[in-house]
Amino acid sequence: MCGIFGYVGSRNDAGNVVVEGLKNLEYRGYDSWGVACSVGDGFLVKKDIGKISAVNGLQFFDHSCLAVAHTRWATHGGVTKANAHPHLSEDGSIAVVHNGIIENFVQIRDDLKAKGHTFLSETDSEVIPHLIEEEYKKSGDFAASVRQACLQFEGRYAILALHTGSKTIVAARTGSPLIVGVMRKDKGAAEDGYFIASDIPAFMNYTKVVQYLDDGEMVVTDGKSILFSDIQTGSEKPKREIEITWSIEQSEKGDFEHYMLKEIMDQKESVARAVNQDEEQIQTLAHAIRDAKGTFLVGCGTAAKACMAAEYFFSVIAKHHVNFAPASEFKLYHHFLQKESLLIVVSQSGETADVLDAMRVAKLKGSKVLAIVNVEGSTIAREADYTLLINAGPERAVASTKALTGQLAVLLLIAHALAGRLQEGRTLLLETGAQINDMLNPRYVHRLKLLAEKIKNEEDLYIIGKSWNYPMALESAIKIQEVSYVHAEGFAGGELKHGPIALIEKGSPCIALYGHDEVTTDLITNAIELKARGAFMIGVGPTQHEVFDEWIKVPDVAAAQPLVNIIPIQVLAYFLAVKRGKNPDMPRNLAKSVTVK
Ligand code: G6P
Repeated sequence: MCGIFGYVGSRNDAGNVVVEGLKNLEYRGYDSWGVACSVGDGFLVKKDIGKISAVNGLQFFDHSCLAVAHTRWATHGGVTKANAHPHLSEDGSIAVVHNGIIENFVQIRDDLKAKGHTFLSETDSEVIPHLIEEEYKKSGDFAASVRQACLQFEGRYAILALHTGSKTIVAARTGSPLIVGVMRKDKGAAEDGYFIASDIPAFMNYTKVVQYLDDGEMVVTDGKSILFSDIQTGSEKPKREIEITWSIEQSEKGDFEHYMLKEIMDQKESVARAVNQDEEQIQTLAHAIRDAKGTFLVGCGTAAKACMAAEYFFSVIAKHHVNFAPASEFKLYHHFLQKESLLIVVSQSGETADVLDAMRVAKLKGSKVLAIVNVEGSTIAREADYTLLINAGPERAVASTKALTGQLAVLLLIAHALAGRLQEGRTLLLETGAQINDMLNPRYVHRLKLLAEKIKNEEDLYIIGKSWNYPMALESAIKIQEVSYVHAEGFAGGELKHGPIALIEKGSPCIALYGHDEVTTDLITNAIELKARGAFMIGVGPTQHEVFDEWIKVPDVAAAQPLVNIIPIQVLAYFLAVKRGKNPDMPRNLAKSVTVK
């Protein structure tokens, strides 16, 4: 949700460094972009609406050692050049890029207006450079004035600030991520420099050594050294340097036309990586769930659907009750939390604001938090009491695919451990991973492409499932909606007759997700009910049935069925988007990492 990226160091092409790096953060927002580059005693600013990926070469930014850049996902104010970042102070001496929301911006703006400041945009962000400017007038110290301004902000922010009078970048965060990339000659690098970004892919071409800013921290760097400090107290904070393990190749799309398809295909191996967990740790967590006074599962979007499926895993496999809530609703559950309760949060990015808020609610009650995340070193991973990584590798497409199957695998493994059947769970999941590898062959993918061609002009699509396939029906709807803009809705099969069946007309495409288990007969009955109203029935399950006009075969993998049933839907959603002329990697109005509430 908005990507920010800054560089200061011994290179003299800072403008191009930040523009090129920012292209790797485009998944965070892509409605407009902007750059501020220090040149001589001032800086040059360039911004525009549209995608940063379309920008090639900003020659006038050459001969600069310091630059900051931004790619926007609009919150306050429409998509206009004036609303694009960087925003400048009244006198133009301070430039700021911002990710997050300054909730008290109206108050701050009114106070500043009374002091003679004028505002050119509709954004909350524009108050930041103006307020820093006021503070600078008092102290004459740029870093101190950024700190003083931050102390007055309410809400969430990650900011990078520049001042014409100094050759430093000052950055600060509360609630939105910021990571420093370190390049130092004394550590064997070819040159000195520091990068500060919302996410690691921005600087992966230069360094794998990182330092994480925690909430409430700021940094000042001139490219040769860096100082971390606490925003509240101003006192210095020591910081560890960490070497990240994944490579730039893992986060590139290679020969694939889109990240979404590449990441669907990554599932040939990623499920096995998710299963490869430390057994002792899984047992410890299973015991923590068994002993907890109430276990709550929370996540957003696709991760929330993994949590919902896990409710069924824990119930059917471990006979253990857990509670699911969308992270954005979890606050209202705090009455049920105790010190001995356990919160399990599931998040691909590890940065989702609603999930972080849910964690903080639990922490206030003294409850422990287990995080299942993909991004190592993310805020959620660092703030949780226990963390399990799903090891899916970087996920760049907005539509989450391989992260889901990784999350499902880890949750299913824990459910088996809780039932005292960890090895059985491991074996089932490894076999499932191998089956997914077989499924994703060119013939299977082509079959789904043909199905997409057949239904591409439909504007409504319904998906039904029961038990753990019910959350997969909901996930199928999200996948289809977000990339193809087809109106898709998922239902529990049994709920059809209580309303949704009124929507079915002759030819309405409906997908039934099923396995080979105690609810299969009921689900087929629901499919027959739809067919009787004229639906065009598509079955996704291990066995054929005459009710289906089209049948997509999936392997029979018992409790792991959600992992295989969602695969053909992901492929179908991808081809629906492509055939309808949409870019599946950049769906309108969405962003990959949602760091605002
Ligand atoms: C956004 C993304 C979804 C994702 C959700 C939760 O809405 O577009 O794909 O499922 O956030 O993200 P998380 O990183 O917490 O899994």
